[in-house]
Amino acid sequence: MTLTLSVIGTGYLGAVHAASMTELGHDVIGLDVDAARIAALQEGRAPFHEPGFEEVLQRGLESGRLRFTTDYAEIARADVHFLGLGTPQRADGFGADLSHLEAAVDALAEVLPARAGARTLVVGKSTVPAGTARRLAARLEAIEGMQLMWNPEFLREGFAVRDTLSPDRLVYGVHDPVAPDAEQAVAMLDEVYARILERETPRLVMGYEAAELVKVSANAFLATKISFINAVSEMCEATGADVTDVARAIGMDDRIGSKFLRAGVGFGGGCLPKDIRAFMASAEEHGVAESLGFLREVDAVNGRRRARVVDLASEMLGDLDGRRITVLGAAFKPDSDDVRDSPALDVAGRLLAAGAQVTVTDPAALENARGRLGDLVELEQDTAVALRGAELTVLLTEWSEYRELDPTSASSLVAEPRMIDGRNVLEPQQWREAGWEIRSLGRANTVPAPRVAVPDAAAVSAEADLADVDPAVVQPALV
Ligand code: UDX
Repeated sequence: MTLTLSVIGTGYLGAVHAASMTELGHDVIGLDVDAARIAALQEGRAPFHEPGFEEVLQRGLESGRLRFTTDYAEIARADVHFLGLGTPQRADGFGADLSHLEAAVDALAEVLPARAGARTLVVGKSTVPAGTARRLAARLEAIEGMQLMWNPEFLREGFAVRDTLSPDRLVYGVHDPVAPDAEQAVAMLDEVYARILERETPRLVMGYEAAELVKVSANAFLATKISFINAVSEMCEATGADVTDVARAIGMDDRIGSKFLRAGVGFGGGCLPKDIRAFMASAEEHGVAESLGFLREVDAVNGRRRARVVDLASEMLGDLDGRRITVLGAAFKPDSDDVRDSPALDVAGRLLAAGAQVTVTDPAALENARGRLGDLVELEQDTAVALRGAELTVLLTEWSEYRELDPTSASSLVAEPRMIDGRNVLEPQQWREAGWEIRSLGRANTVPAPRVAVPDAAAVSAEADLADVDPAVVQPALV
């Protein structure tokens, strides 16, 4: 059955959700208070880099089933309203800033009575602290026939359309899973997702708080997994081990799994960093701060890896003042133009603060990087031009074009063939053979001499093993 849906908030999550819902056969109106963004979307232009999104957007617009507006009155008659607003970190602390979400719910409440009597579902998709849905439901309570559900979104940037249309699972948070009116709400959301559910996608119904916690727990777990391997990486540097060997071997244990064990300069983006901080703030508000205290360490490990890149640069170049350093990558991860809390830009800023002359290159994120770094660093789209004259090259975002760089041709561009591989995607032996001095985070070659006693034979075989490492196997392609 075709439903009319509204999606309030057309950032990454909302815009992708709106366009994807037309693929499921519904009529969709996307709403945002940002008129420029709405105009771009209405013209079929993606306001961010996301593979496959523009096609879905244009298909939706051409079908006549997708449109965008800034006017709440236009969405009043929708059957289901999705809330896809951002919940960034608060300026004054670790907690989540819910002001956009709250403003949207208030604005929606103003127009909803237009449908008095009809069934209306409001579905929160934003990542929020536990307790938010119940509070928002109370604000909407007075509106007859209205129900609120919380349905967290797990999409990854770079795979957003695929993750939205083929999720691993659907999570429905309701005010009371055994209440009869919850059944009605569940049935209505099932209609929205009918084509996804036909494929036997697991659908889990639970209370609001559990649904809210599913999302933040999932992100906190992923962040912890990355920081775990990065902490091991520090041990590898201290002992002369190679973290890619360790990750590969522990990842073969099914209980651990190989995904999210890619050691390097760590996690960034608009979700993981702010979500672990908001989770800690929320635990504190609920009087169980110590339960999530370890996330402080997860955050600290992540920050230390960024600092480590700068230390390595100093070890290789000595004083960084006036030295020419090229940073490969600005986005927080490949196939994205998102620079929010990007490790690459953070490191570029630290190198700059140490006096280096920094050039940053990235296939998609330079425009956004300009907003963060201003004119302080040189931004160069063309990789070959960016490499020209570099005394040190630092790979911080593993775009395929950087993974596939040819060390021989790259060495003819740079002033000095020195490389720091901050993502462990280059084959050190191959680069060394082409004349490069290369250091990688957490790999034996990073450390001149182990700081603990290691039997000679072991040290020799650790070196020899490096030649056998196939980075494509050790570093599984982005999942
Ligand atoms: C994340 C969650 O994966 C997604 O489910 C949620 O909905 C939003 O937050 P995203 O922010 O798009 O998605 O990025 P993700 O692919 O999770 O990567 C996050 C960061 O971790 C990136 O900076 C990435 O480079 C880094 N990372 C990832 C590692 O450093 N090592 C790894 O092994 C994996």
